[in-house]
Amino acid sequence: MTPGTITAQITDYANRADPYPLYAELREQPVRREDDGTYLVSTYYEVRNLANDPRLSNDTRNRPPGYARVGHPAEETGLPPSFIFTDPPVHDRLRDTINRPFGPPHSPRFLDGLRADLATVVTELLDAFEGKDQVDIVEDFSYPLPVTAICKVLGVPREDEPRFHIWADALASSLDPRPGGDDGQEKAQRARQDMGAYLSDLIETKRRHPGPGILSALAPDMTPADLEATAVLLLVAGHETTVNAITNTTLTLLRHPDVLERFQKDPDLAVPLIEEVLRFEPPVQFVPWTTALADIDVAGTTIPKGSPVWLMLAAANRDPKRFEDPDRFDPDRKDNEHLGFYTGIHYCFGAPLARIELHAAVPELFRRVKFSGLLEDPPPYRTNAVLRGPRHLPVAIEGLTA
Ligand code: HEM
Repeated sequence: MTPGTITAQITDYANRADPYPLYAELREQPVRREDDGTYLVSTYYEVRNLANDPRLSNDTRNRPPGYARVGHPAEETGLPPSFIFTDPPVHDRLRDTINRPFGPPHSPRFLDGLRADLATVVTELLDAFEGKDQVDIVEDFSYPLPVTAICKVLGVPREDEPRFHIWADALASSLDPRPGGDDGQEKAQRARQDMGAYLSDLIETKRRHPGPGILSALAPDMTPADLEATAVLLLVAGHETTVNAITNTTLTLLRHPDVLERFQKDPDLAVPLIEEVLRFEPPVQFVPWTTALADIDVAGTTIPKGSPVWLMLAAANRDPKRFEDPDRFDPDRKDNEHLGFYTGIHYCFGAPLARIELHAAVPELFRRVKFSGLLEDPPPYRTNAVLRGPRHLPVAIEGLTA
């Protein structure tokens, strides 16, 4: 690997379909310094320890000038940063507040109550496969479900999807660190403003006429600006990632017919199988927006205060020092403590929802659809290196059961 070009290789689209050989090279040196002073950490224990280290910040304003400040636009957008890009105590206060209507202990039944609705959406999507001999798993299946789910969670009208889809796309692209290009950041800034304005009107309506969903529940407890920023974050985080998770699961199973055959006979395999996909093909490949708040010693290297740090989750998930035979897709793997949802205080807020969606989608897809195979392997990928997943997944199908 040529020194100084590591981040360029990771973001290079040519490596998107199979970044794992590159990650294996990276792990040979657990902590690497890029020429511009960015540090990449790629081995399991080092990534895990750093993600749990209070000296590592998710607030990119702690970077010296000249480095990308993801999540903190240069120009005033009128919105505070969303809680993913903040540190304690602000982070913890916002996360605790938002968790109240979303999950246990205050609202243990909220997410569970979505299961029936999601099952109905899955049935409708699969019914539409009838009479077709090929479908695109992304457009026809993976995309519509998480969008419906996050709309229900928030109380956002599903029919507004064509509007916020464009904003969400621009915001998701801006998380992708493309060396040299800042067009994405400008577009994202505008998208965040437009999405914020849309949500601000919606939140105002909900304040006056509360309805189902967490925006209504949170309106009395949060400032309008904090609630808007949170709604933007959840709307974006809530669909791009899960779309990729459902698609990656489908792709991985079609590439492993032995596991697929077992799964079709034993639907209980769904739990370990889905966790194994989150290890093997994680929808968030790395977290490139952390910063060292002090000099931090990691595996014999000192990461100086102020350095941007990329935590390479997908490389850590295949670290042979942590997982036996890590390049093997193995749903029988014991002790599968993968980093697909991260770890520490920024552990994925939506993980319980994502798991409910995956379990609504995957077993039913493989129970009802008889697949004859992938039409393109590898499929065309999205450009994004962080939120990595197929743009399309064309598959041939032989039939559909009721
Ligand atoms: C399989 C699907 C998903 C995967 C793989 C995933 C992965 C991740 C990862 C790796 C992080 C850590 C990012 C960081 O610290 O900077 C994260 C954070 C987050 N995720 Fe997810 N996510 C998924 C689905 C969702 C869903 C459905 C939601 C919406 C409810 C969501 C909301 C969030 C939020 C709000 C954070 C920030 C948490 C914090 O800073 O405390 N995610 N997710």
